[in-house]
Amino acid sequence: MGDADQKGIGMSFEAPCSSVSKRSEDLEEVHLVKVAGYDFNRGLDLMALLKSFSTTGFQASNLGDAIEVVNQMLAWRLSYEEPAEDCPEEERDPAFRESVRCKIFLGVTSNLISSGVRDTVRFLMEHRMVDVLVTTAGGIAEDLIKCLAPTYKGDFSLPGASLRSRGFKRIGNLLVTDNSYQRFQDWIVPILDQMLEEQRTEDVLWSPSKVVARLGKEVNDPSSYLYWASKNNIPVFCPALTDGSLGDVLYSHSRSNPTLVIDIVQDIRAIYSEAVRAGPRKTGMIILGGGLAKHHVCNANMMRNGADYAVYINTAEEFDGSDSGAHPDEAVSWGKIRGSAKPVKVHCDATIAFPLLVAATFAKSIDRSA
Ligand SMILES: NC(=O)c1ccc[n+]([C@@H]2O[C@H](COP(=O)([O-])OP(=O)(O)OC[C@H]3O[C@@H](n4cnc5c(N)ncnc54)[C@H](O)[C@@H]3O)[C@@H](O)[C@H]2O)c1
Repeated sequence: MGDADQKGIGMSFEAPCSSVSKRSEDLEEVHLVKVAGYDFNRGLDLMALLKSFSTTGFQASNLGDAIEVVNQMLAWRLSYEEPAEDCPEEERDPAFRESVRCKIFLGVTSNLISSGVRDTVRFLMEHRMVDVLVTTAGGIAEDLIKCLAPTYKGDFSLPGASLRSRGFKRIGNLLVTDNSYQRFQDWIVPILDQMLEEQRTEDVLWSPSKVVARLGKEVNDPSSYLYWASKNNIPVFCPALTDGSLGDVLYSHSRSNPTLVIDIVQDIRAIYSEAVRAGPRKTGMIILGGGLAKHHVCNANMMRNGADYAVYINTAEEFDGSDSGAHPDEAVSWGKIRGSAKPVKVHCDATIAFPLLVAATFAKSIDRSA
């Protein structure tokens, strides 16, 4: 190629432009959605603002899509599906089909229960809006601790050594006092004693979910989500029950009472059964954060060839290969989410996104006159 050609000398005027711009397809035909945000000139309208997310772009649009998926979970009835050829007779009854709803699994990391998201979870439990909850040990203890003493707003930059000398523990920009954990220990030890007694005299074989249900019953405080889970018989699974202050208490309790048994095998059977026996219901997963809470919900749903609906709200990214950061499509490859589902991941702090999601879905449908 000669110099003149390399510099483009002698090429037609349109050539360099066509390498930058192409003729656009007819947009009317491809049905693209126009980007538009909320117009505050129309006044403050929470529902209209939430609706505008879907056309705003970036993570607002992902949140808008998540709202749509959760509303699909809530709207679904078995009556929307034609009975299969081998459908049992009792499942053909239209009234029965109208009563069968999607089974919703909620996964929540511990820090969210330390935060005000605990109150959103409590609302869902109180109104029986989710069917199964999975959390980590802090997600149990922090709910109960809040019934004994408040968690306070602090600051991410408060220095650890100074907090330690003053008897405060920091969770992000939240503060919990050492006294709270002492009160928790004082409250729970007699319950553990009683549980051990029931194991000895009534052959009770405890599992993490049975312990959690018992604590929810004992706390007797309607500000607690565990209180409502226990009252409404909603199972709360926490397979790693010992990785938090509950573990610390169990450690010291076991030194004088080494025979208390908490069996995790019962619970793996119980949560897998929740998924395997969900049929003819569809299942939906709403997973806040990553780690165990995310994986355990997904793994249970793998036992039924995947959830029908899935929403993740999560700040983790996938480049490091972590399960926390894995996109929903990775779960499709494992059979944890069905290939036919339209899963959504909202890349956002769940303390912001989840209350907004609930406002546009679960909370919208509640009948306040009831
Ligand atoms: N308050 C607490 O956080 C607390 C208290 C006691 C014990 N623990 C223990 O710490 C261990 C780890 O906690 P974990 O597994 O619950 O979760 P984690 O704190 O390790 O979080 C797991 C992932 O979830 C995502 N995530 C967390 N917070 C989020 C948010 N606000 N919004 C969006 N995504 C978010 C992040 O990507 C994070 O990497 C557990 O065993 C738990 O019992 C935690």
